[in-house]
Amino acid sequence: MEKKDSVLKIKVTSNGPLLVDGKIDLIMADGSTVTKDKAALCRCGASNNKPYCDGSHVKIEFKG
Ligand code: FES
Repeated sequence: MEKKDSVLKIKVTSNGPLLVDGKIDLIMADGSTVTKDKAALCRCGASNNKPYCDGSHVKIEFKG
C-alpha cells in the first residue's frame, strides 16, 4: 500500500491558540528541534510555556 503524504493542518481558534495537526518541526529558541504530530501554539503572547499554549489566553481575555 502506498503511503500518502502527510498533510499539515493549522486551525486558528477564536481567541485562542493555533491547533497544529500533522508533523511539524519546531525550532526552539536554543536552536534545538522538537518534532510534534499535534500541538497547540500560543498566539496571544501570554503563555509561560512558549511556544505552547498554557491556557493563559483565557486569563488575559485575548481577542483575536
Ligand atoms: S494562546 Fe493560549 S496561552 Fe497564548
